[in-house]
Amino acid sequence: MTFRFERHYADMAGATFASEPYFRSAWRFRGELLSQWIAEGETVLPRLLTRFTTLERRYVVNCGIEDGAMTGLFVYVPKGTVHAPLDALEHWSEGVLRGKTVDMPEYVNYDTISLLADLADGVDTVLELGAGYGLQLFRLFYAGAPADARYVAADISQAGLDLGESLSRLEPRMNFSTVAFDIARPDWSVLKGSRKALIFTHWSMMYAPKVPDDFFGGLAGWPGEAVMVFVEPLGFQWGGGHPVSEKQREAAEMGALNGDFAEALSAAAAKGWIEPLVVANDVFSRSQHPFDLCSVVVCSKPAG
Ligand SMILES: C[S@@+](CC[C@H](N)C(=O)[O-])C[C@H]1O[C@@H](n2cnc3c(N)ncnc32)[C@H](O)[C@@H]1O
Repeated sequence: MTFRFERHYADMAGATFASEPYFRSAWRFRGELLSQWIAEGETVLPRLLTRFTTLERRYVVNCGIEDGAMTGLFVYVPKGTVHAPLDALEHWSEGVLRGKTVDMPEYVNYDTISLLADLADGVDTVLELGAGYGLQLFRLFYAGAPADARYVAADISQAGLDLGESLSRLEPRMNFSTVAFDIARPDWSVLKGSRKALIFTHWSMMYAPKVPDDFFGGLAGWPGEAVMVFVEPLGFQWGGGHPVSEKQREAAEMGALNGDFAEALSAAAAKGWIEPLVVANDVFSRSQHPFDLCSVVVCSKPAG
């Protein structure tokens, strides 16, 4: 049976389509669905989130747009054919794995959360920039990242952070908080008191038209040490050879994706602010869409 959930936000009708109003409404939309499920009794947070991520693997939030303006209508639409479980074993989409086109069965995922949990060993703070409602932070907590660490969801969208706050009330054992944060004007005071942090982005640096000069420079003024991980569809900046990387480059040229992250990273390394560790290019995608193909970039920020 096809899943159906839609809302019309009259106050958004006519707003020019852009990242900020889109996410403001999309987080509100998701929040309404999650509140409905909670009211129906789905109050165990890991269950709620797994059920929700399963839904979003099959359905995507569609925002009505006419002539570049939002209509205010938000609805879940199938990403492709939604297969019954047994059929799903025999169907796959064309995806990408480590730069190669491969058949991707629905039940295969890239386990970014285990990677991040491994890298979180010994940290006192886990900070996600562009966290939305903190889904990845909750998943990290349940994946075994330090139980007593501070988990901070930082985002420009207050609607996402509000949803994160309300979900966190279902998990009082987790030290979860939110902070308003703009990647374009980073305020690193959020790290005050931390000695060792895992800082990551997961499909959010891509929206920064340009990495600001004080992104790594500002962080260098914080005395602690950090592992920084960027999971972003930006492999074209390291010369990803896959045709989807080419589509990413075209999207960046049209202003739909960041175009200078690799450059900002090398400049910061040259100044000694960070130490680049790994660029794993064109790692995983379940489709040929340029926004779906992630690369994983890891660097460290030394103490002092
Ligand atoms: C695709 S969502 C990813 C959310 C989350 N990282 C995840 O993977 O579940 C992108 C998020 O980036 C945020 N974002 C976009 N531009 C931003 C900026 N300049 N500063 C902070 N957050 C930003 C959006 O508000 C949105 O919540």
